[in-house]
Amino acid sequence: MADRVYIFDTTLRDGEQSPGASLTSDEKLEIARQLVWLGVDVIEAGFPIASPDDFEAVRRIARDLKGVVVCGLARAVPEDIDRCWEAVREAETPRIHTFISTSDIHLIHQFRKSREEALADIDAMVRRAKGYCMDVEFSPMDASRTDPEFVFKALGVAIAAGATTVNIPDTVGYSMPGEFADLIKGIIAKVPNIHDAIISVHCHNDLGLATANTLAAVSVGARQVECTINGIGERAGNASLEEVVMSLNTRKDLYGVDCRVNTSQIYKTSRMVSNYTGISVQPNKAIVGSNAFAHESGIHQDGVLKERSTYEIMDPGSVGIKSSLVMGKHSGRHALRVRLEELGYKLTGEDLNRAFVRFKEIADKKKEVSDRDLEAIVADEIQPVHEFFQLKLVQVSCGNSLVPTATVELIRPDGTQARAVALGTGPVDAAYKAIDTISKVPNRLLEYTVHAVTGGIDALGEVTIRIQEDGKTYVGHGADMDIVVASVKAYLTALNKVMANRPPMAVDGSDQSAAPTGKKATDTPNFGSTSPLGKGLWKAAE
Ligand code: KIV
Ligand code: ZN
Repeated sequence: MADRVYIFDTTLRDGEQSPGASLTSDEKLEIARQLVWLGVDVIEAGFPIASPDDFEAVRRIARDLKGVVVCGLARAVPEDIDRCWEAVREAETPRIHTFISTSDIHLIHQFRKSREEALADIDAMVRRAKGYCMDVEFSPMDASRTDPEFVFKALGVAIAAGATTVNIPDTVGYSMPGEFADLIKGIIAKVPNIHDAIISVHCHNDLGLATANTLAAVSVGARQVECTINGIGERAGNASLEEVVMSLNTRKDLYGVDCRVNTSQIYKTSRMVSNYTGISVQPNKAIVGSNAFAHESGIHQDGVLKERSTYEIMDPGSVGIKSSLVMGKHSGRHALRVRLEELGYKLTGEDLNRAFVRFKEIADKKKEVSDRDLEAIVADEIQPVHEFFQLKLVQVSCGNSLVPTATVELIRPDGTQARAVALGTGPVDAAYKAIDTISKVPNRLLEYTVHAVTGGIDALGEVTIRIQEDGKTYVGHGADMDIVVASVKAYLTALNKVMANRPPMAVDGSDQSAAPTGKKATDTPNFGSTSPLGKGLWKAAE
């Protein structure tokens, strides 16, 4: 049997450190469930000491998920390790991942610690973690810029103290593949107790080499790879899970290793992470970009039609990209359910009804409804957020000689309906101002993007926005053939996330000074805790 490489997914920790990415605890749980379907071995669910939200998300994931190692990150300080253990302790298989910088650049300029002090911390903190948990991972941060002799020493101390995995981070994406492979070879040759631990690697993509460095390390003996879906992560991101896994599978002749990933779930996981984080996938991104399997040149098309292997090294179906069976206005509910199941979405009951209504609306206006349209409908309809504010009506008038004006009607959290009219610099601005008048949720719009799901004048428009409230960022996502409607949906999703994050007394969204129901604000339930999550709607079709 081939050697096993363990897949450590850090989308929810390093990935969430991507500029602009911010996930609610419900979204993290949904993504974690999907990662289990994908078949990763370890989920790094967050950095519990970083915030109460992070702690809660790690704890929920640890409690709910089975069949996967759930890991939390901790600096090599007692408070972090204790907090991390609190968050992961209920997991079927918990792991504490502790780290400390070892490079002189970090030790001298940032932490003002000597190498001896760092070694003492490694010994004490790995032992502390081991006191709680059998499975302990240690990372010497900035390893690729650390004196290799000191890396060897630090790893020896960590393993002697009980670390079962030692992870080698190329923290700033500085290393070159040959050099990184040499570092791993050096570790195998010079750390006497290395055979008591698994060697892991964690590569950043600052020079576009994260996947190459990861693979170079595997080729010389690393057996855990840390990566993220779509390669998201700090700065230029981390090694992309789909690239690493598909390289190992496609070139098994070269690497001779196995991993447990169910590659047919890759595309769906990529879409989900992109939708929830609001970070879109560039069209030419390997494996999951919209152009990854598109053949434009006549010569290539001709070759593929005659024999796929002429220009295709992977079958798109192997990553879950199905050939587009076209759905149209004559397709029924059963056909929709079957197609969605083929795409990996198991919708039943009310959710299927809602998706079907949306599908029919679109099919009436558009001749063909593609798989990407269907995915946009699912992403739009099945968002794990309670609808505190519901859209009743939006109507805009605009043009080259009109002041853009919007009328919006919303159902408020207390069930009452409200209408507002506003002027704006454009139709979307006017609609957002009308919503603000009703919702009274002060926030700052950080980013607004719109893109067409497919080509053509009748394409579905997908809008992603980011707003900030009280220092936190919330992502909203909406799809519709009318981009003003899509924009309003995206804004309401983001506002509903703000509401879900508020303490119970502040969520009713009505004017507190003149609550129409006469209800006291404190009577209002916290809908945040009754979110529709847990329905497992993103669950893959078995
Ligand atoms: O990039 C890095 O060094 C990290 C560590 C915490 C492993 O993310
Ligand atoms: Zn990192």
